[in-house]
Amino acid sequence: MSELSLFALFYVYLNQNYIIMSDNKVILNYDGNSYEYPIVDSTLGDRGIDISKLRDQTGLITLDLGYKNTGATLSDITYLDGDKGELYYRGYPIEQIAEKSNFTEVMYLLLHGELPTENQFTSFDNNIKKYNFVADEMKKILDVFPRSAHPMGVLSSLTSALTAFNPKAVNVNSKEEMDHAAELMLAKFSHLCAWTYRKTQGLPINHGDNSLSYVENFYRMAFRLPNEEFVMDPVVVNALDKLLILHADHEQNCSTSTVRMVGSAHTGLFASISAGVSALWGPLHGGANQAVIEMLEMIEADGGDVNKWVEKAKNKEDNFRLMGFGHRVYKNFDPRAKIIKKAADDILNALGIQDKALDIAMQLEKVALEDDYFVSKKLYPNVDFYSGIIYRALGIPTEMFTVMFALGRLPGWISQWKEMRLHGDPIGRPRQVYQGAGVRDYVAMTNR
Ligand code: CMC
Repeated sequence: MSELSLFALFYVYLNQNYIIMSDNKVILNYDGNSYEYPIVDSTLGDRGIDISKLRDQTGLITLDLGYKNTGATLSDITYLDGDKGELYYRGYPIEQIAEKSNFTEVMYLLLHGELPTENQFTSFDNNIKKYNFVADEMKKILDVFPRSAHPMGVLSSLTSALTAFNPKAVNVNSKEEMDHAAELMLAKFSHLCAWTYRKTQGLPINHGDNSLSYVENFYRMAFRLPNEEFVMDPVVVNALDKLLILHADHEQNCSTSTVRMVGSAHTGLFASISAGVSALWGPLHGGANQAVIEMLEMIEADGGDVNKWVEKAKNKEDNFRLMGFGHRVYKNFDPRAKIIKKAADDILNALGIQDKALDIAMQLEKVALEDDYFVSKKLYPNVDFYSGIIYRALGIPTEMFTVMFALGRLPGWISQWKEMRLHGDPIGRPRQVYQGAGVRDYVAMTNR
């Protein structure tokens, strides 16, 4: 043992504060006492130290800004390995799901844990169709929004308003009641997404066509013009189906944690999902797909010098970031981005699209992937970089991009909410390390 290690051991012994880790527990020696914390096993990936007794026993709490090292729950739904760039829904690799499944089947898989039999699929699909009528009064709520309102704000409000029209789906306690609320939500939400879009375009809304699949129905409801026959383009339907599947769940991300946190107070499903929509709206989360296109347009308007903007993103004095690059968990290529990049290439070719902003995107991708700053920090293009490109190629307006993300993420939010309720997770209530003023006496205004 080196002199330095001996010194470190002696120092630790004198201070009597140290941690010893073994295979199944962690021993913390603090202030002369010893405490044991079990290590909780996982099927795949990170194991966790169960510190639920830490504060009671030691008076200490953990501090982990942004929850970078904190497991907030035990979950069976989705597993992702950020170092290897892998993603699994209920154990199935995302590559297989994206190639072989469809969005309705993925909704069932996430919600119920297994792939459906033919009968289960039919009954689930029929229920979603049966419940997808949205109360006519909801149109009046939609009417009062200005046309310029951001669709994510409108969507969040309408989702919350659904509570008033489906009061029996609010206080649900049994698995059956939760599954019913889930089917109502899945059924009605796609209408709300289509309606928010039609509002921004000044188009009359409609209630869809139940002879179509979930994705086809949404596509037609959102984009059918009143004065033209609607043509169902299979390239678009296929791209939408894939995009929705790839966004369907992503374990404990910001919006999902929000849904679980709100739901942990036993708030109903619709209100919890409404909170998730608001969380997703932010440009560091789902709003990034909109931010990507806005950034590309800005670079184009500025003359299209990609290197200049890459340099700006690297400059610590400049708060510009390359939108669509980097991820909290993936430190390798985002597996969804790999699938979506191929879809983006196929769609641009199939539709023969020539678009300066999309050319800039391709240049940006190349420069960043070869640049030392991005390589050393493991900042790869994420799913939102390519999803924005596809939505733009399909002619979907920029402000709608995050709504498309929300439609995809809905089954994940619902499945996580249901799991949290069925596991009986306690109400979410983090602690803090207070660093404000010490205790002091009130000073009258005349003496301040
Ligand atoms: N451009 C330039 N530098 C970046 C970028 C970027 N897009 N992302 C991270 N960095 C740098 C950052 O400045 C920091 O540098 P340093 O270590 O020198 O201080 C380092 O990389 C680590 O960044 P971080 O902000 O500490 O990482 P994080 O895990 O807290 O944030 C992120 C992850 C996704 C918020 C961030 O990468 C980002 O802001 N990206 C752009 C927004 C975006 O594309 N968001 C969509 C995420 S994917 C969809 C979803 O699941 O929500």
